[in-house]
Amino acid sequence: MTGMLRVSNMTAGYGALRVLHGVDLEVGAGEAVAVLGANGAGKSTLLRCLSGLLAFSGEAFFLEQPISGVAPHRIVRRGLIQVPEARHIFPDLTVLENLLVGGTAVPHRRDRMQVLEEVLALFPILAERRRQQAGTMSGGQQQMLAIGRALMGKPRLLILDEPSLGLAPMVVRELYQAVRRLIGTGLTVLLVEQDVTLALQVVARAYVLEGGRVALTGSATELRESTHVREHYLGC
Ligand SMILES: Nc1ncnc2c1ncn2[C@@H]1O[C@H](COP(=O)(O)OP(=O)(O)OP(=O)(O)O)[C@@H](O)[C@H]1O
Ligand SMILES: [Mg+2]
Repeated sequence: MTGMLRVSNMTAGYGALRVLHGVDLEVGAGEAVAVLGANGAGKSTLLRCLSGLLAFSGEAFFLEQPISGVAPHRIVRRGLIQVPEARHIFPDLTVLENLLVGGTAVPHRRDRMQVLEEVLALFPILAERRRQQAGTMSGGQQQMLAIGRALMGKPRLLILDEPSLGLAPMVVRELYQAVRRLIGTGLTVLLVEQDVTLALQVVARAYVLEGGRVALTGSATELRESTHVREHYLGC
């Protein structure tokens, strides 16, 4: 398995508050892996470190290159692209314009148009609404747009931070069908979720983060059957 992302002994926090305490994590090329954990476990903090927004100690390599000390835009340029928790779409721009913003780093117009076609095929609702002002769409549609915009940058590794957050169950189901299709294309995905049941339906394996430490890791099947996961996350 080629290493796409490799994190070892990552420690980070905010001022005197230490949030991550020596996290180890790996994602191979073509894998779909989840980071699961309750509110405040440190999931987004981990992602902030990976995107160059927060300093950390320990090591992190993306495609064998260190991440530490690298500017966020350079990390994106290398192909590590995140969809943050708070989607950050441009509400006044149309769906199409939002998508094209995500493609600005792809140098050739023909490549951009090709990726656009793929994104619109993955999310037909975005094709249907391409002329609509993005801010007038539902939360679920905006989440799809945020993912579509990230895809426009041709990620080598796509990271999703709690895509289901704040969405109605029906919308979540639709969104996750799209995430599953996306994973099916062979794209490497790191999915961060609080909803353990949902995430374990689409990824092959996962890490469970508790208090800034990896408490448990294993295949989706192993985790679904783990007593700890059942008691603490599945309520059964
Ligand atoms: N900018 C910040 N400044 C200070 N403390 C922060 C900051 N962001 C997060 N924290 C603290 O760090 C801890 C971990 O937060 P983090 O956002 O990483 O959790 P999370 O696992 O993503 O949770 P959630 O599922 O709610 O998004 C929490 O105690 C939080 O209060
Ligand atoms: Mg978070």
